[in-house]
Amino acid sequence: MALRKIRTEEDPILRKISKPVVSFDNKLNTLLDDMKETLKKADGVGLAAVQVGILRRVVIIDIGDEHGFMELINPEIIKKEGEQREKEGCLSLPEKSGVTLRPMKVKFKAQNRSGEYYEAEGEGLFARCVCHEIDHLNGKLFIDNLAPGERVVYDS
Ligand code: CO
Repeated sequence: MALRKIRTEEDPILRKISKPVVSFDNKLNTLLDDMKETLKKADGVGLAAVQVGILRRVVIIDIGDEHGFMELINPEIIKKEGEQREKEGCLSLPEKSGVTLRPMKVKFKAQNRSGEYYEAEGEGLFARCVCHEIDHLNGKLFIDNLAPGERVVYDS
């Protein structure tokens, strides 16, 4: 495993659309393992491949709850319920935060590293995190999703 460099806001790659994963091969395994190490080192709760410069639809999430460490390949939200307004940040936008508008609950489907489909659901922070990371795959950042009347806060 190796640490990868996390791209930050000024990097135009963060605004690009990631492509679906079609090969569930060793290269994907290495990417996932490297992302896991990078996320742990950064002390984050989620990371999308584009954040380490790879334009593929790959996300990892670990919010420290009963879902455990999750790998989401080609994820798609299939159900959203309710809404929440909570403070959100991003490893690619260090020192910024803002209150976003997100669904309270989401259900998604995705593939694991072997290409098998699975579904999972969750609420609160988990739902927020799933939406945030899937947005990354579509070139969107949390600052695009601020709740009405909210603005970006500079933490430093
Ligand atoms: Co982010």
